[in-house]
Amino acid sequence: MARHLITSAIPYINGIKHLGNLVGSQLPADLYARYLRQRGHEVLFLCATDEHGTPAELAATKAGKPVTDYCAEMHQVQSDIADGFRLSFDHFGRSSSPQNHKLTQAFAGRLAEMGLIREVTEEQVYSKADGRFLPDRYIEGTCPNCGFESARGDQCDNCTKQLDPTDLINPHSTISGSTELEVRETKHLYLRQSELKGDLAEWIDSKKDWPILTTSIAKKWLNDGDGLQDRGITRDLDWGIPVKQGDQTWPGMEGKVFYVWFDAPIEYIACAQEWEDAGKGNDWARWWRTDKGADDVTYTQFMGKDNVPFHTLSFPATIMGTQEPWKLVDYIKSFNYLNYDGGQFSTSRGRGVFMDQALEILPADYWRWWLLSHAPESSDAEFTWETFQTDVNKDLADVLGNFVSRITKFCRSKFSEAVPEGGSYSAAEEQLVADLTTRVRTYEKHMDAIEVRKAATELRAIWALGNEYLQANAPWTTFKTEPETAAMQVRLALNLIRIYAVLSAPFIPDASATLLAAMQTDDDSWPQDVGSALTALPAGRAFTVPDNLFRKLTDEEREGWAERFAGTRD
Ligand code: MF3
Ligand code: ZN
Repeated sequence: MARHLITSAIPYINGIKHLGNLVGSQLPADLYARYLRQRGHEVLFLCATDEHGTPAELAATKAGKPVTDYCAEMHQVQSDIADGFRLSFDHFGRSSSPQNHKLTQAFAGRLAEMGLIREVTEEQVYSKADGRFLPDRYIEGTCPNCGFESARGDQCDNCTKQLDPTDLINPHSTISGSTELEVRETKHLYLRQSELKGDLAEWIDSKKDWPILTTSIAKKWLNDGDGLQDRGITRDLDWGIPVKQGDQTWPGMEGKVFYVWFDAPIEYIACAQEWEDAGKGNDWARWWRTDKGADDVTYTQFMGKDNVPFHTLSFPATIMGTQEPWKLVDYIKSFNYLNYDGGQFSTSRGRGVFMDQALEILPADYWRWWLLSHAPESSDAEFTWETFQTDVNKDLADVLGNFVSRITKFCRSKFSEAVPEGGSYSAAEEQLVADLTTRVRTYEKHMDAIEVRKAATELRAIWALGNEYLQANAPWTTFKTEPETAAMQVRLALNLIRIYAVLSAPFIPDASATLLAAMQTDDDSWPQDVGSALTALPAGRAFTVPDNLFRKLTDEEREGWAERFAGTRD
């Protein structure tokens, strides 16, 4: 039994995530956490909401709410949706927690102590009417390049030219509309991560087993020159973690907060403290401090490819820079993008299916199975309603669902609603046990390696073995001449349902629970030995025929959904 710390990239607080976000971090992380728990390992699986930064402020303003209220409400919304998808976090924390405030300030203080923070004076736009500095995206004006009237301070959305706020003609504040803007000097803290370039390069080089997607992005940023420049870790904003060094004030930094990308990854650690403080476990340090037992923890992070630079360079720099015994990540599983029906999912344009909408339409297992079996691992993947309908109908209804309903109904009609006795195995059963054993070992290998698609393919093949066995041995025919043999075949197949429930649980936890309940067993032990696992339900054990495990999606449904989600969400 080993100890596994698992984190998923923490989703921004502003708004509900789409299915592309889900399959790129939280869902595969959940798959892995569930699998490792089933295999008997000790797992701590953490996620949280990423609550700071201008997008949170903007969204709260748009919703007409104080930002603290907005974040509290949206955290609850995201938490409920996570439950709906059966994401089995041990704790779903908040980057705005008191624990994260304290820890972020402690990290900054320690980094300053280590000589890794320098102060930089910059020029930034100040709005007198608003009484604050304005981030680039809070300033709009006419684009000097194309004349577009609502170009943003950082970029023109019309001609895509990268801009500086001072380039804009007639700039104004998007908060108040005021044109009374001036450039003022402001001081910021920079983390001298360029000092750590050598250590980071060596560390990344030592990770021979990391996915190519992860290391290629990391190395590109490390070597591109621009990648590892010192970075500003503070901002002139109200909403965020106040800049302090530990619990001391930081002269000249009054009224400033840490940059959201500085405090967000620290929440991975603070979240373990929240978990302990909520009384859900003890000793967060056992997971995070190598001097407190975390040296035998395996730490795996899940994220979309856009998050890789922050997790391979910035956050490790924050940790290494302290020279304190914090746990560093052991394995980073990153994902490409899932596209939506010939284009991209778009949060701003409301294009695609969002997590709350998905659950309105269908139970979690349908989505979990499709998304995981199409996880964008080696390249971008695409969601289309046609493939969704075809795959769900085939894999879940025709293969798994059909196997279960065929054998339970047959047993009920010819024997009873209890496992029949029957004779002993013949060659066909021995062969099935051998085939299952080979495939289960391969499935384990892919799950251990977090090869999500390959694992799904193997699981599908394991389901198919059951149907092939029934097809070839036809107990409904055998029954007429050799009822004893048919009884044995049925006993084996009923036991196979239990094994399917156990093996499938990381992908489709609800269906798995339904199957175990139908077989009236709470024996969810992993089929270490397939032969003996096939004897777990003894003759005489009562069962019930489960209601349609998975239903088929109709063409009318498919067409309706395609239309409904093509457009704009309000
Ligand atoms: N909120 C970020 C995103 O959705 C992810 C933050 S991950 C963390 O892209 F490491 F910063 F926590
Ligand atoms: Zn322009």
